[in-house]
Amino acid sequence: MASATAQLSSEARFFFFLVFFSLSLVCCCCAGASNGTAATDDEAAMLLAIRASLVDPLGELRGWGSAPHCGWKGVRCDERGAVTGLDLAGMKLSGAIPDDVLGLAALTSVVLRGNAFTGGLPAALVSIPTLREFDVSDNGFAGRFPAGLGSCASLAHFNASGNNFVDLLPVDVGNATELETLDVRGGFFFGTIPESYGKLRKLKFLGLAGNNLSGALPAELFELTALEQIIIGYNEFTGPIPAAIGKLKNLRYLDMAISGLEGPIPRELGRLPALETVFLYGNNVGGEIPKELGNLSSLVMLDLSENALTGAIPPEVAQLGNLQLLNLMCNRLKGDIPSGVGELPRLEVLQLWNNSLTGPLPPSLGAAQPLQWLDASTNALSGPVPAGLCRSGNLTGLILFNNAFTGPIPASLTTCSSLVRLRAHNNRLNGAVPTALGRLHRLDRLELAGNRLSGEIPDDLALSTSLSFIDLSRNRLRSALPPRILSIPTLQTFAAAGNKLTGGVPDELGSCRALSTLDLSGNQLSGAIPAGLASCQRLASLILRSNRLTGEIPMAFATMPALSVLDLSNNLLCGEIPSNLGSSPALEMLSVAHNNLTGPVPATGLLRTINPDDLAGNPGLCGGVLPSCTASAPRASSSIHRRSHTKHNIAAGWVIGISLTLVACGAAFLGKVLYQQWYASGAVCCDAAKEAGTDSAAFQRLGFTGGKVIACVKEGNIAS
Ligand SMILES: *[C@@H]1O[C@H](CO)[C@@H](O)[C@H](O)[C@H]1NC(C)=O
Ligand SMILES: *[C@@H]1O[C@H](CO)[C@@H](O)[C@H](O)[C@H]1NC(C)=O
Ligand SMILES: *[C@@H]1O[C@H](CO)[C@@H](O)[C@H](O)[C@H]1NC(C)=O
Ligand SMILES: *[C@@H]1O[C@H](CO)[C@@H](O)[C@H](O)[C@H]1NC(C)=O
Ligand SMILES: *[C@@H]1O[C@H](CO)[C@@H](O)[C@H](O)[C@H]1NC(C)=O
Ligand SMILES: *[C@@H]1O[C@H](CO)[C@@H](O)[C@H](O)[C@H]1NC(C)=O
Ligand SMILES: *[C@@H]1O[C@H](CO)[C@@H](O)[C@H](O)[C@H]1NC(C)=O
Ligand SMILES: *[C@@H]1O[C@H](CO)[C@@H](O)[C@H](O)[C@H]1NC(C)=O
Repeated sequence: MASATAQLSSEARFFFFLVFFSLSLVCCCCAGASNGTAATDDEAAMLLAIRASLVDPLGELRGWGSAPHCGWKGVRCDERGAVTGLDLAGMKLSGAIPDDVLGLAALTSVVLRGNAFTGGLPAALVSIPTLREFDVSDNGFAGRFPAGLGSCASLAHFNASGNNFVDLLPVDVGNATELETLDVRGGFFFGTIPESYGKLRKLKFLGLAGNNLSGALPAELFELTALEQIIIGYNEFTGPIPAAIGKLKNLRYLDMAISGLEGPIPRELGRLPALETVFLYGNNVGGEIPKELGNLSSLVMLDLSENALTGAIPPEVAQLGNLQLLNLMCNRLKGDIPSGVGELPRLEVLQLWNNSLTGPLPPSLGAAQPLQWLDASTNALSGPVPAGLCRSGNLTGLILFNNAFTGPIPASLTTCSSLVRLRAHNNRLNGAVPTALGRLHRLDRLELAGNRLSGEIPDDLALSTSLSFIDLSRNRLRSALPPRILSIPTLQTFAAAGNKLTGGVPDELGSCRALSTLDLSGNQLSGAIPAGLASCQRLASLILRSNRLTGEIPMAFATMPALSVLDLSNNLLCGEIPSNLGSSPALEMLSVAHNNLTGPVPATGLLRTINPDDLAGNPGLCGGVLPSCTASAPRASSSIHRRSHTKHNIAAGWVIGISLTLVACGAAFLGKVLYQQWYASGAVCCDAAKEAGTDSAAFQRLGFTGGKVIACVKEGNIAS
């Protein structure tokens, strides 16, 4: 079908050439005689014929019809009244473009940019020999790209970007030697760049990016010495960037990102004094960064990221006085960061992450620069965090994680009101978490996990109205948690695992709108688990493992709509597992191992198939996936249990469970009291455990005296 169309269009082209020639003969004959009145009447008729075949949903061309046609919207004429331009951009037009355009003998500009045309591009459109400007960009034209532009001897601007052409690049365009801009970005052109393009000696703009072009970059391309912008990335080329690139003396903008190029960066690139932008990211370019790049005195943006570059960053980059962006991340660079990088007066973005860089950050970094974004994460950097990073007040991102930075978090950051992300986890930072971070009204992420921070979690962190992610895990923090920390309205994740935090789990939860992850594991938290956490509708992961929490598992946890991970293991929790906890709608992982839970394991939902390891270490639990309550050790206790259940379930709102066995010799204790008014917050079932909160290890060894047992039984208010 494609070839049929092609055949048809070439026939059509031939026919319309004939029409065109006869028309122009007619024009020549009458023009001199009668000021072209007849011709302009014809042109009006042609325009109306064109409009008739268009679909014009917004009625943009409604006004066409009353003479003179030179005043019609989108129609441009010369002083003699001949139509020279059709500018119908952005009118949501579709439909067919009839061959009548060929009759507009003085037409030099066709601009159909940003409409809704689909289907093949009419050959007639590219066969107007007088064309200077041809722009069909941002439409839905598809299929082959018709030949013809090569015979438009005056064509200067050609833009077919943003269409769906599937074809080789039109070879004959190389004959349009007046061409200054050639833009076919964003299509499905395939094959190699035609050598014929080497004839376009006036070309200033070459845009081929975002197609399916392949093969090596032809040497001819680098004869185009007028080129100012070459944007050919997002293709599938092979081979190196030719050294001949050094001939493109007028080049300002070079974008060959993500295009399959390999080999070294030619040092000749450093000979292009006008170069402002170099994007070579996402290729497989290797070797060292040539020091000659330091001679690119106009350079504003240099992005060599995601390649295979090796060696050190050349100190010559410090000569790039206009540089605003330096992206070298995801390479194999090593060595120190040249200290001169800290002196680049216009530097805004510095991304060096995922290399093997060593040594310190330049101490002057940010001090005299409008630094906005610094990402040096995942290297082997060390030394202190420079104090002046935010001096200009522009810093939004400070990303230093996975390095070996030492020293304190600079106090200067606490006045950095522009800061959005502070990510410095997995370093060796020490000192305190600075106060006033909670007052940075843009701060969204605060990641300080895996450092050596000591002291308290500052109370004013809870004043934040912007933080969504706080991770202070694996430090040496020793305070109680700020009571209102979980009521930060934007907070989604709060983690402070692996510290030495004391006090209770905060129960001032505010609206708790956003909270989805709470990890306080591996601390010394005591008291009951606040039942109010159940009101956090988005809470998906609640990890309170390895603390000294007492009391019961709040029954309301069974109804939390998003809760998928609940880890309460290694605490001092007592009472029964809430009967419907296993059926909690989203629950996927539950561990209550190593507590002091008692009674039957409810055989519902997740609990039917739970790994017994997640229940282990609770001598009073039985049934379900554990040995049945009537078998072996907890026999007596469980029978009491069942009895007490049938008896007390009648009393609404009260749960009573008792199991108590005192073995002779006073050594073993296998009893359990459950008696709790459910809606009382901070329920505690065994005060002995609570008192013993500072000595849980002793408790877990079950090494208490009969006296304590009795005390607990008494406190528990046994009802049988
Ligand atoms: C020729 O046509 C143009 C535009 O229609 C008009 O402005 C001009 O006056 C005409 N000249 C003559 C000599 O009729
Ligand atoms: C080509 O057209 C697109 C879309 O209309 C536009 O964004 C682009 O700047 C144009 N190219 C040139 C070189 O002007
Ligand atoms: C380009 O022009 C040359 C000479 O003018 C001609 O021989 C050749 O056929 C043309 N190529 C195309 C593809 O039109
Ligand atoms: C063009 O490349 C894209 C992405 O690589 C691929 O999905 C598509 O199939 C290719 N199309 C053609 C016509 O080669
Ligand atoms: C930089 O350019 C100067 C002259 O402009 C030249 O002498 C020097 O060799 C160049 N340096 C590099 C590294 O290419
Ligand atoms: C780090 O860079 C290497 C290439 O040097 C790449 O393979 C790897 O995926 C990158 N890692 C990350 C986390 O981006
Ligand atoms: C840096 O911040 C200052 C004040 O906050 C602002 O005036 C300036 O424009 C910013 N500079 C840049 C490069 O963003
Ligand atoms: C376990 O619970 C019982 C009562 O139910 C209590 O007497 C005992 O002290 C608790 N043990 C621990 C280690 O908390």
